[in-house]
Amino acid sequence: MNFLGNLSPADFLKQYWQKKPLLIKQSFPNYQSPITAEELAGLACEEGIESRLIQERVKDNSWQLQHGPFQEHDFTSLPKSHWSLLVQAVNHHIPALNQLLDEFNFVPVWRVDDIMVSYAPVNGSVGPHLDNYDVFLLQVQGRRHWHINEHDYTEDDFLDELELKILADFKAEQDWILEPGDMLYLPPGVAHHGIALDDCMTFSVGFRAPSKKELLSAYTVNFNDVAKDQFYTDQDLQLQDSSGEIKTEHIRSMREMILSAVSDDAEFASWFGRFITEDMNHYETEQNELDNDAFKKQFKQNGYLNRYGNIRFSYIEDHENLKFFYAGNELQLALEQLSLIQYLSSQHRLDYIETLKFGNEESALDLIHKLYNAGCFYFDE
Ligand code: SIN
Ligand code: CO
Repeated sequence: MNFLGNLSPADFLKQYWQKKPLLIKQSFPNYQSPITAEELAGLACEEGIESRLIQERVKDNSWQLQHGPFQEHDFTSLPKSHWSLLVQAVNHHIPALNQLLDEFNFVPVWRVDDIMVSYAPVNGSVGPHLDNYDVFLLQVQGRRHWHINEHDYTEDDFLDELELKILADFKAEQDWILEPGDMLYLPPGVAHHGIALDDCMTFSVGFRAPSKKELLSAYTVNFNDVAKDQFYTDQDLQLQDSSGEIKTEHIRSMREMILSAVSDDAEFASWFGRFITEDMNHYETEQNELDNDAFKKQFKQNGYLNRYGNIRFSYIEDHENLKFFYAGNELQLALEQLSLIQYLSSQHRLDYIETLKFGNEESALDLIHKLYNAGCFYFDE
């Protein structure tokens, strides 16, 4: 499926990724939503699932935000227009959405976040705003009128509702009406406003980009946990003219001490692999462990095995080593398992026959069995 229109993934990355918006008409023609509006509302009523309801009051240009979990009467008491329900990470709960996510594998999986699903009746929107992340907005049901503006906005350009961050004075430079199957790519920072023209469902395939603050604080926590401490030394201390002064070379030593904490390439790589695959959701599952034979028998019989949507896989390959990361854990593997690992980390649904094509069958099944017992996979019901 070439859902990037006439562009190859490489051309898309070169010309559009993080650079400019792209409208792709009939990117996913005849795409059937694996979730209905009622099922979406049902998810928004569940504990542990992040959801928001945004209502617009047109007469005074004000916006109201409520967080889930909701109750049924929250939906039955809504007006006929001007609201929008958003549910985060719906792919964690609807397996077919993980397969949709796999279509975006031309971007490294560690950059992929999740699929947010929104439902809105006529005139529903979340207001004009901008996001810090790349997004593909796939129109799944009904039509949405998207308006965008590539102007650089500042903090003063937003309305006072702090949590919502809605642009006070947004004027569109470009607009399009998206029909089912159409998709709009937006790089970070492009202001956008999508208004439902009729009952409308939109999937936001969102990406993640760690911020400097996030990396620093996560690395510091990790460093506190694992690293042996080290104290400043100054055997060559020179007599100073004034004892109040902090010398330039002392400041330099302090910076060097901090930088030395990230100087070991292998250690830093391992930390990043664990950090970026960490599972932030920890859903409870009722799955029992299986012994090796029972697992292999069931995999063969079922033909398929699914990875839970919240379980992230990635790997790092250097000259002699293969580091495989799953949900914040690390495994050292033999390089012979590289093609298997490439398959596992790019697909949420494993095909038994396909899986056995990657090198030694026994060691492939042993690894997948181990990951199954660690709670990464489940069989179809
Ligand atoms: C929506 O689906 O209504 C909003 C998605 C977005 O603007 O990021
Ligand atoms: Co947005």
